[in-house]
Amino acid sequence: MKQFLDQLSEEMGAAFEKAGFDAALGRVGISNRPDLCEYQCNGAMAGAKKYGKKPIDIANAVAEELKASGTFSSVEAVMPGFLNLNVNEEYLAAYVREMLASDKFGVEAPEKPLKIVIDYGGPNVAKPLHVGHLRPAVIGESIKRIARFAGHDVTGDVHLGDWGLQMGLVIVELGERQPDLPYFDEAYEGEYPEEPPFSLKELEEIYPTASAKSKSKEDDPEEVKQAAKEYHARALQATREMQQGRRGYRALWKHIMAVSLPDLKENYRKMDIEFDLWMGESDVNDLIPAMVDDMKAKGLAHISEGALVVDVKEESDKKELPPCMILKSDGAANYETTDLATILWREKELKPDKILYVVDKRQELHFVQVFRCARKCGLVREETGLEFIGFGTMNGPGGKPFKTRDGGVLQLKALLDEIAEKMHTKIRETENADAPMSEEEAWQTARITALAALKYGDLSNQAAKDYIFDVERFTASEGDTGPYLLYTMARIKSILRKYEEKAGASLPAELAASFPIPEGKAMKALCQDISGFIRMIDEAFAERAPHKVCAYLYQMANDLNSFYHETKILAEPDEKKQAGYIGLIRAVLAVMEECIGLLGFSAPERM
Ligand code: ARG
Repeated sequence: MKQFLDQLSEEMGAAFEKAGFDAALGRVGISNRPDLCEYQCNGAMAGAKKYGKKPIDIANAVAEELKASGTFSSVEAVMPGFLNLNVNEEYLAAYVREMLASDKFGVEAPEKPLKIVIDYGGPNVAKPLHVGHLRPAVIGESIKRIARFAGHDVTGDVHLGDWGLQMGLVIVELGERQPDLPYFDEAYEGEYPEEPPFSLKELEEIYPTASAKSKSKEDDPEEVKQAAKEYHARALQATREMQQGRRGYRALWKHIMAVSLPDLKENYRKMDIEFDLWMGESDVNDLIPAMVDDMKAKGLAHISEGALVVDVKEESDKKELPPCMILKSDGAANYETTDLATILWREKELKPDKILYVVDKRQELHFVQVFRCARKCGLVREETGLEFIGFGTMNGPGGKPFKTRDGGVLQLKALLDEIAEKMHTKIRETENADAPMSEEEAWQTARITALAALKYGDLSNQAAKDYIFDVERFTASEGDTGPYLLYTMARIKSILRKYEEKAGASLPAELAASFPIPEGKAMKALCQDISGFIRMIDEAFAERAPHKVCAYLYQMANDLNSFYHETKILAEPDEKKQAGYIGLIRAVLAVMEECIGLLGFSAPERM
């Protein structure tokens, strides 16, 4: 279906034309003075110069053409030449009914669906998942769902960080602790044990310990600095040897993966985040030699300060852009190398129209280098879009990067549990005393609500901006929060349950037939909200902007609550009127359900 505003614009354009003006002037937008009118058109202002007329004369002429319009209930030309518009209630209801009768509320598949790969999540194997990994997963998941809903063919890839220094650090630290393990004996030719030499708990301790040992501070004594340097160098070497195929290290790599992956998967599952591909940096290792040879053969890669690099600066650059490093001076692959080889793989295997990267915006330079290098070296077709969607930093209250009370980084699991507990307490405090929840239902509701609080708290901000992670605010049941939306939806569900109980029958699944012609401002506002759905989806996809879905939901929830407070729905004696109210709030609920699904959470039956 067409966007509602486009339909209005067409009608308006036809009126401009009939009055002797360009139809393109008839662009209709949402009113920025909702106290005066619902929609507005400023085309007469824009046309004044072109036609050498006063804007108000143009506006009057157009208004005259729309006198008998079935689309607008009122068209008013006001000084200096604006057209203030209200939409006809029957026309509006008919549009919404058509939406409700259509698949996906009228969102049609694009003529040519795009094949999109979305690279998001990006956790690093062996390192515990901490709050810093929240944003790429939550934002990426939502963009993926929006793109899919918009009708595109989308593949989500977690792109594991599993080929870098963290692996070398774990190997070195393990070697310190258990030097007699066969993995470290280069002469060893037998089979390696099947059991990993560490548990998940141990691994979660080994990495941070190793990482700390490899770093030193400015004011550390010289011998501490020296030891850290030496440790770091050993980790680099172990990383390189692992990448280049040293048997024992590859076997350890397998163990690290086997221990780490199930935990990662479990973490994402708990957050309702699903990847289609669990590929990682390691998966493209074998593509690297040929890729590098090709870059050299084309004369694009050259040695600079010992490393192999490709120049990527362009004349129009305002800032100095360093070359893209393909191999480090010790011959090891780095972050650029694996990203380039991954582009090669995706291009070959998936032939995408677009690859989207949902990554911390501080990595922008890396992606500029990688994208340019990929184009220069012909790793992608010219028409393949490479797009960086950088997100801002999540800060703690006070505006500093989020830390736990003791200053460490907070593990995601702990954070989720903490929020669920908070929600559990709240739910117990506010639940209906006549029908208390079982402990199981209370916890399930708490977990669903906690996830909504967390995801909505993140997604309602424009992704590129830094934001303050404030559990208190995110879990509040009033205001622009996930729980507020869920309370609103639970309110609708509760009314519907009571209505069904009274009628002794359940409502039919079909929504369109019972959708009413709105009476009064509050009802009409909700109809207008629904009518804006297709436009909202189009924009959210085009701008990769889950926050547009959030803003849409928040407006809808506010309008629903205004309607609820001024209307006696269940006590309405006129049955036909009441059926209309029910038809309206059911439609609102259905649209809200769809929208929260796009954000990656769900709603409980009651709260
Ligand atoms: N593992 C990376 C990190 O933690 C993020 C990966 C993002 N995706 C990519 N294709 N580079 O910084």
